[in-house]
Amino acid sequence: MAYATLVKELRRLAKLNVTDERAAHIAGSEDYAYRLCAKHRLPFDPVLIGVLAHDLFRDWPVERLRSVAKRSGMDANPYLERAPILYHGIIAGLFLERWRGELRSRPEIVEAVTHHSTGYPFRSYIGKILFIADSLEETRDYPGVWELRQIADSDYEKGYIAVLEHKIAYFLEKKYLLLPETVAAWNAAVTGEVWKV
Ligand SMILES: [Fe+2]
Ligand SMILES: [Fe+2]
Repeated sequence: MAYATLVKELRRLAKLNVTDERAAHIAGSEDYAYRLCAKHRLPFDPVLIGVLAHDLFRDWPVERLRSVAKRSGMDANPYLERAPILYHGIIAGLFLERWRGELRSRPEIVEAVTHHSTGYPFRSYIGKILFIADSLEETRDYPGVWELRQIADSDYEKGYIAVLEHKIAYFLEKKYLLLPETVAAWNAAVTGEVWKV
C-alpha cells in the first residue's frame, strides 16, 4: 500500500476541511501517537493514516454530517441523533473505506477512525493508540490528563483502559448517553474477551 501517497492526500484534505485549532489537535495527536508507537515498538504507518483522517470532518456543520450519513445509506441511529457531532467519526470511516480501495484490506484502520470518540472493542492496537492520542495529546488540558499520560507512556494497554474509564466517568457525570460501542469497549477491556456490539 502506498502509505506515502495516502498521507500526502490526507494532509492536503485536512488543510481544506479543518480549522487551525483542529489542525493543531491533529498535529498533537500525530506526535503523541508517534511517540507511543516508538516506545511500545508498534508500526506507526497505519496509525498515521487513522490520525490524519479521524477529525477530517469534525468542523463540518452537524447538518452536513447528518445528511452525508443519510445519503450513504446509514440507518437512523437514536444515539447519534442525540449527539450528532459523533457522525464526524463515522463519516471519516466511510470516507476512508470508499476513497481508497487499498484500505478495504485494513479494516482495523477504518474501525479506529469510525469509533475514535466513543471507543469500541478494537481488534488491534491501531484503534487503541488513536483513542489514547486523541485524548492525551499535548493541546488537551483537563484534570487528570497528566496522570493518564504517565500510565499510557509506561503501558499502552493500561493507558487505553484508563482513558476509557476516564471518558465513561465524564459521560456519567454529564448525564450523557452511553453508546453500545462504549459499553462493549469497557466489557472487552475488563474481561480481555472479544465483545460484540
Ligand atoms: Fe473526533
Ligand atoms: Fe480528535
